[in-house]
Amino acid sequence: MSLLHTECPDLGVPEAMPPLPPAASARLAAFAEKIERLTPTFIGYPCSQDYDHTNLAHFLKYSLNNVGDPFADSIYRENTFEFERDVVAFFQRHLRAPDGETWGYVTGGGTEGNLYGLFLARELYPDGVVYYSEHTHYSVAKIVRVLGARSIMIRGQDNGEVDYDDLYETLKLRRDVPPILMVNVGNTMHGAVDSIPRIREMLKDLAITRFYIHADAALSGMILPFVSDPQPFGFDAGIDSIAVSGHKFIGAPMPCGVALARRRNVDRVARSVEYVGCMDTTIAGSRNALSPLILWSAIERWGEDGLRRRVERALATADYAIERFKEYGIEAWRHRNSVTVVFPRPGGEVIRRWQIAPSRDIAHIITMPHVTHEMVDLAIADVANSIAASGG
Ligand SMILES: Cc1ncc(COP(=O)(O)O)c(C=O)c1O
Repeated sequence: MSLLHTECPDLGVPEAMPPLPPAASARLAAFAEKIERLTPTFIGYPCSQDYDHTNLAHFLKYSLNNVGDPFADSIYRENTFEFERDVVAFFQRHLRAPDGETWGYVTGGGTEGNLYGLFLARELYPDGVVYYSEHTHYSVAKIVRVLGARSIMIRGQDNGEVDYDDLYETLKLRRDVPPILMVNVGNTMHGAVDSIPRIREMLKDLAITRFYIHADAALSGMILPFVSDPQPFGFDAGIDSIAVSGHKFIGAPMPCGVALARRRNVDRVARSVEYVGCMDTTIAGSRNALSPLILWSAIERWGEDGLRRRVERALATADYAIERFKEYGIEAWRHRNSVTVVFPRPGGEVIRRWQIAPSRDIAHIITMPHVTHEMVDLAIADVANSIAASGG
């Protein structure tokens, strides 16, 4: 045997991946402890934490990739398209999409879904102007810049809804260009739902027939389908596309979401790509294939009843929080069907400890399904102390 053969690894056989070196293992263990310590104070952001998907760990050893259109063929077959299609069907049903008229895919989160909707709108109306309220998620201003689209920011009301008068007057001034309306179905800070019927009424009144409505339903898109008296939010209300985050109400260990849009608008942007033998209808090329599995598994495990129960419990916890605030003499409120509880902004230390998102003079806690009464009690006591200390 030559020297080469005894000293070099066999070039024909892949080397097994070595285990983590001890120092790296210790670092990971310390990180796990840090994350564990943070979870009991996770009350400020809309990400559910009531799940355990470790049963899907088996799939961490494959190069799964959902490159391409989940409804078309692909040469790359290590994908989870079959699960992604089920997830899309679930959202189509709950977001009230007319049979066969919409298309969708699992995105990397709410921002990508908003980008997708506004991309389709801009392709449909290259001269269109995007209208969005000042209370819209910050991603939208960025998306408009990425798309190079013209846009107008509309005033917002103190309750988080768009200022309908300002919207009407602005639309009236620009009747020569198609409006691309970005409506909030549960905005970030207040959980406010813009009235889609009222906006459609304005368009009718102004005789504007060429328009596009995209709904940003990052959080509420998975709440409103499960309440008895939802504000209009879906395709039946006349929207053209919608974005929902998957890691928010359903909950997931990685950011993800779903974008749905009218199929005829998607067909306009679809291109066939020889390299992967599939239709390129999505924003990203390579796409996360684990997130469709996670969402599918969550939907299967909770079932419709379980998802409804989670919404009911989260809403009840929001009411409990408002009552607790009242006991401290603090004015707190929420919108109908929203789990975002708004109250006066506390001091920086409390914001940091409870990972609370502030904006100007307000802050919120969001009573996602993992939030317990105990967490609410502790957080509100801290907020109350902070407000009292500042003389509020
Ligand atoms: C209303 C709204 N839209 C969009 C987003 C962005 O979603 P993501 O963080 O999933 O990209 C958020 C995130 O908080 C949001 O609250």
